[in-house]
Amino acid sequence: MRSIGARLAMWYALVTLATMVGVFTAGRYLLEKYVVHSLDLINEDEFSQIQDRLGPGYAGLTPAQIQDRLREAAGAKSVLFYIDIHRRTGETLFLSHNLAGHPIPDVPGERYYNTHIVGTPYEMRAAEFLLDPFDVTIATSKEQILGVMRGYRAVFFGLTAVMLVVSAGIGFGLSRLALRPVRLIQETASHIGSDNLSARIPVPLVHDEISDLARLLNRMFDRLESSFNQIRRFTAEASHELKTPLSLIRLQAEKLMVDGGLTPAQEEAVQMQLEEITRLNQIIDELLFLSRAEARAITLAIRRQDTRKFLEGFAQDARVLGEDRGVRFAEKIEGEGSADFDSRWIRQVLLNLMSNALNASPRGGQILLTSEVAGGVWRVALEDEGPGVPADQRERIFERFVRLGPPDALGSKGSGLGLAISRSIIGLHRGKIRAEPGSSGIGLRVIFEIQATDGTEESAPVRGSRE
Ligand SMILES: Nc1ncnc2c1ncn2[C@@H]1O[C@H](COP(=O)(O)OP(=O)(O)O)[C@@H](O)[C@H]1O
Ligand SMILES: [Mg+2]
Repeated sequence: MRSIGARLAMWYALVTLATMVGVFTAGRYLLEKYVVHSLDLINEDEFSQIQDRLGPGYAGLTPAQIQDRLREAAGAKSVLFYIDIHRRTGETLFLSHNLAGHPIPDVPGERYYNTHIVGTPYEMRAAEFLLDPFDVTIATSKEQILGVMRGYRAVFFGLTAVMLVVSAGIGFGLSRLALRPVRLIQETASHIGSDNLSARIPVPLVHDEISDLARLLNRMFDRLESSFNQIRRFTAEASHELKTPLSLIRLQAEKLMVDGGLTPAQEEAVQMQLEEITRLNQIIDELLFLSRAEARAITLAIRRQDTRKFLEGFAQDARVLGEDRGVRFAEKIEGEGSADFDSRWIRQVLLNLMSNALNASPRGGQILLTSEVAGGVWRVALEDEGPGVPADQRERIFERFVRLGPPDALGSKGSGLGLAISRSIIGLHRGKIRAEPGSSGIGLRVIFEIQATDGTEESAPVRGSRE
């Protein structure tokens, strides 16, 4: 059972059931004892009447005389009482008619006992009295008692069924009531993410275990928020701080080149410096972008645009890039439709993918761009014929600074941020990006999906902007 509420309700119902069974059993025991005791009293009462009828000289009476004296009493009450009088020696002196000649069984050592009489269907309650030198045994049917007990049981089962349903209902209601604050915590906590760290769990004024827990969680969120903010600020500030000295170094290097008078070896060294500075600058820009994107501080200029037109524009540039590197570029654009996106950033994603594909492609290889609009989704894929990426690394390449292959084979270009940035941009568009093996089994295919619209409405609201 996954829900605490259901478990509590079940326990509540079980406890109620156990309580009811306990009360019933005790009640049954007491009731039976009480009713049986009243039968014993009735039997005693009958005995004293018999004693009266027999009179003081009873010891000398013959069976016929006894029969005579008791006829009236035993006759009238023959349905109620079963009477058996016998001598100690075992000689029977009197048997009431309803016994039909069968004596009442004797239980040695017991004065009051339950017994069965041959020829009668019910259990009897018997009492044996001493009337020296006779033994008088009087029995009464327990049928009525048994009837009462049966009724009692029926009432119990009915009540139990009703109580089980009622208590399960009450238990469920109570547990829902008790767990309401927990659900509130759950709801709030599920909304708190790196992009929404300011939400807090509402805490009631009362002091109980759950409100204490909520306070504890809120304090934890406070700490999380402040560390997140610190990290963001640090990345942003560090990037800014690095850019100024870098520009100064670049200026100096450029000045050296312009001034001339360097040996060819020195000139080459300065040239290398300039290239590295450019690369560093790019890494800083990319890091700055990532930290701003995470803080949702990137403004997207989202417009509804035709997907085909956009991709055909990109394909022209991609073809030139391919030619430059001796790689064929092909495109297969299917489906008409439009999507809401910022063309500058989606173009950046495509350029990132293209640069990776170019790096991976063998000479004379092909890079294929496919696009389709179907089922409300714009799906774009770029596929190359390179070595591909092993399955267990295909998610990792989207992480920051992850670059695969031997260090020297990676070349000096690239920082391992391209795919991380691409995922971030697609995320800002509420889309998804992933990698899979190429369609013919070789190479890598990177696919991104963005929601597409086939409507004719103009421009959509700009989202992701918090500046
Ligand atoms: N098309 C591809 N074929 C093979 N490996 C790829 C491809 N695209 C990306 N990768 C691997 O993923 C890593 C991360 O890519 P990326 O984030 O763009 O960083 P960078 O290009 O700067 O190395 C690359 O270093 C490369 O090992
Ligand atoms: Mg790259």
